[in-house]
Amino acid sequence: MAEIRFYTGDNFPLELHKVRIVQKLDLVPVERRAEAMAEAGYNTFLLKNKDIFLDMLTDSGVNAMSDRQLAAMMVADDSYAGSATFTRLSEKLEEIFGTKYFLPSHQGRAAENILAMTFVSKGSIIPMNYHFTTTKAHITRLGGSVEELVIDEGVKITSDHPFKGNFDLEKLDELFRCKGSSIPFVRIEAGTNLIGGQPLSLENIMAVADLTHKYGKLVVMDASLLQDNLYFIKTREEKAKDLSIRQITRMIADKMDIIYFSARKLGFARGGGIAVHDESLYLKMRELVPMFEGFLTYGGMSVREMEAMTVGLEETMDMDVISQGPLFIKYMTDELVKLGVPVVTPAGGLGCHLDASRFIPQVSQTEYPAGSLAAAVFIAGGLRGMERGTISEQREEDGSEHLASVELLRLALPRRVFTLSQVKYAVDRIKWLYDHRDLIGGLRFVEEPSSLRFFFGRLEPVSSWPEKLVKAFRDDFGDSL
Ligand code: F0G
Repeated sequence: MAEIRFYTGDNFPLELHKVRIVQKLDLVPVERRAEAMAEAGYNTFLLKNKDIFLDMLTDSGVNAMSDRQLAAMMVADDSYAGSATFTRLSEKLEEIFGTKYFLPSHQGRAAENILAMTFVSKGSIIPMNYHFTTTKAHITRLGGSVEELVIDEGVKITSDHPFKGNFDLEKLDELFRCKGSSIPFVRIEAGTNLIGGQPLSLENIMAVADLTHKYGKLVVMDASLLQDNLYFIKTREEKAKDLSIRQITRMIADKMDIIYFSARKLGFARGGGIAVHDESLYLKMRELVPMFEGFLTYGGMSVREMEAMTVGLEETMDMDVISQGPLFIKYMTDELVKLGVPVVTPAGGLGCHLDASRFIPQVSQTEYPAGSLAAAVFIAGGLRGMERGTISEQREEDGSEHLASVELLRLALPRRVFTLSQVKYAVDRIKWLYDHRDLIGGLRFVEEPSSLRFFFGRLEPVSSWPEKLVKAFRDDFGDSL
């Protein structure tokens, strides 16, 4: 990818694609935004899309597809067993990862279910750089536990460490020495989601794999966010700068025993699956696919999505394609830093992450600062983000809160979906909110499900702060939306 410099000295990311299909958006008035937030129980998962202007909830299943992906969907081979579409997908994975076997699943968490059912039992310990919500839920459901071994820098909100997703190798070694017999596999999460889409270095990935193999254990990669991680390895790691994306991918894949992914992210489609090198590992998991997903040659996916995924995986090897997300996220993050708004640095993949703990320090963790900020950002600009803090944690067995190590509001930038002016609008409304941050208060649960409460839970504000925010907006913006 050639660096594009501007004659006037301006510096912003340039789209290397053009828009050929558009979807109309509505920006509803601030009063309606506040009303919609209340109707949704102050949980952005429960908002209706018609009330949302920029949907930054997630990058999952909402990335823009290319013309080639759409074209491939038209030639999908729709057969229950042995479809040519599956063969094409499986061959593409073998070409990219060198993996001989592929188990399809309807999405990433279904692959996690299969892995957990195969390898996790009561007392199992799964070391990982950091947990992901659905991963942890599958492991703990079966009586296992998660051990987070990310480097200390990983949970520091502001840092200039280029690879905050790295494992602490000493801690991993110590865990193997003390509790090795309880460890079935080590999970490496590329583009570590919950700490701000932060990457691991190629060097760290290699070292984790070597150490794990030294102790005779399996190495599993969650490659859902591998595309962002590949971009960061190529641009931030001296040793990798002359390697192609394809070479870096292969070096990583050769060291893994199992690679699983959500194709709602990796491959810019929908679906997922598990790629494996070894036949005996494949056979261990195989029967769970027809039991929970669908026959072995579709695994719950539509053949159209599998065709789109095949093309999307090929396009993931193109720096012009995988750089767009990280470059836009860097632009948004840098602009917010310039305006003094607290964000996670350095910018990672997936989205821009606001630091709710510093944005609204007056809201204590037991009143959910990241959830409150999510509600406030929606009221301020019609921007839907995702709480990534204490609400996303599960309570302890004794019912006490498990306070998250970081309180973040994730504003995802689905790949190639938003324009730069939409990002500028988001920055403007967040800056306005930051200047009115004293108005924002906390939330409390009114309906709290016992698991995955962040999806379905309903909350209410602890005071009338949403109304005050609406009034301040009207005072400042007049009758503007
Ligand atoms: N692993 C990671 C790292 C993920 O980010 C996700 C999903 C999954 C596994 C599960 O995959 O959704 O296809 O079942 N992340 C979405 C998100 C939900 O919004 O970050 P899935």
